[in-house]
Amino acid sequence: MTEWTKSSWRAKPRIQMPDYPDQDALQAVEAELSRFPLLVFAGEARRLKSHLAAASRGEAFLLQGGDCAESFDQFSSDAIRDTFKVMLQMAIVLTHGAKVPVIKVGRMAGQFAKPRSAPTETVGGVELPSYRGDIINELDFSEGARIPDPARMMRAYTQAAATLNLLRAFSTGGYADVHQVHAWTLGFTESEKAEAYREIANRISDTLDFMSAAGVNPDTAHTLQTVEFYTSHESLLLEYEEALTRVDSTTGKWLAGSGHMIWIGDRTRQPDGAHVEFASGVQNPIGLKCGPTMTTDDLKALMAKLNPSNEAGRLTLIARFGAGSVGEHLPRLIRCVEEEGAKVTWVCDPMHGNTIKSSSGYKTRPFDSVLREVREFFSVHAAEGSVPGGVHFEMTGQDVTECTGGVRAVSDEDLSDRYHTACDPRLNASQSLELAFLVAEELSNRREMHRDQAAG
Ligand code: PEP
Ligand code: CO
Repeated sequence: MTEWTKSSWRAKPRIQMPDYPDQDALQAVEAELSRFPLLVFAGEARRLKSHLAAASRGEAFLLQGGDCAESFDQFSSDAIRDTFKVMLQMAIVLTHGAKVPVIKVGRMAGQFAKPRSAPTETVGGVELPSYRGDIINELDFSEGARIPDPARMMRAYTQAAATLNLLRAFSTGGYADVHQVHAWTLGFTESEKAEAYREIANRISDTLDFMSAAGVNPDTAHTLQTVEFYTSHESLLLEYEEALTRVDSTTGKWLAGSGHMIWIGDRTRQPDGAHVEFASGVQNPIGLKCGPTMTTDDLKALMAKLNPSNEAGRLTLIARFGAGSVGEHLPRLIRCVEEEGAKVTWVCDPMHGNTIKSSSGYKTRPFDSVLREVREFFSVHAAEGSVPGGVHFEMTGQDVTECTGGVRAVSDEDLSDRYHTACDPRLNASQSLELAFLVAEELSNRREMHRDQAAG
């Protein structure tokens, strides 16, 4: 086995990455990015890891969400603010149900590169290379747009830096102060769930008033006024990742400085492939997507490679099997983890196994399937005695019509109204909130089950 370096992935089979026609331009971009400041700090990544370790034990719960693909065109402070707001609302609902801290991680500030099922796309008899995310090429269906352009990495870096700057400001500048719990609602989310949210918010406000009147806990004022918000993305475009990977002077370990948490997609998780090689040597918390084709042998090899010292919080397994298939796949993987005595954080992604083509031709996800996969995830963990550690959603704070269903039912015919995603269909704000209530209910059932077991 050769020693890991930030470039050792280059000697491994590379898939789902572009072949840049202009290698000189690519090298110039890599050299320039290698001199740029990192976007995140090692201490932050380690702190997130310790929170994820708590989630692996059921002492915290992960809420990870954001766009399927961030886009250059739709970059705006309003869009970032609205997604941030909905995540705060969801976190309030989840904390209320789970009675444990909710770890907030955006698919934001770096989620630009996309793996594709097919290398080309054919429209009206014309075949062009697939769109691979704004960091690589353009969505526009024309030959020039689909040529991979390394200069797009610079723009992605800049947008990620600006996004993170805004997120840091929202997190600590007063906006996320829990006293603002009523102000996070969005105008268009009116529904019975919005009402249920208001009830929780009222109870929180009352409690805060009481605490302040009674002079309770002045020491925790800071905790209530700020949130910790972390970033994550799929570590797919390894030239970009490598350029932002540096040694952390505190520990001497390597850090992928492009985001706090990075994950490996379901298509690029070959134990001997480039993506696993890269992730194996950085100290960040690593997510690993687990789809129906994940075998127990694969999982064992991946756990050995990605978390050889069995550090809690290092490895998050993101299950994405599809509604109706969780019972077939999750138990065998949970048992494999148990047999190995491995410490992992189990998370449910109810999006990627539930994508269908609607009768109107749009790629969509039925909200009922999303809910069903979440329920199945919780019930398998209850049966296996393992810990459901979090959820992973493709969602936005915008009022889009991309997934069908929900209380403000979006129909097949509605999809064309506000279908804005650059890639996969996202939950809109009201569907996201509705889903948070379902997850909160599952978490509170789980709490009761444990209480009963402890009592009985
Ligand atoms: C994604 O999270 O956008 C994605 C492509 O997921 P997966 O690798 O699970 O298909
Ligand atoms: Co996606």
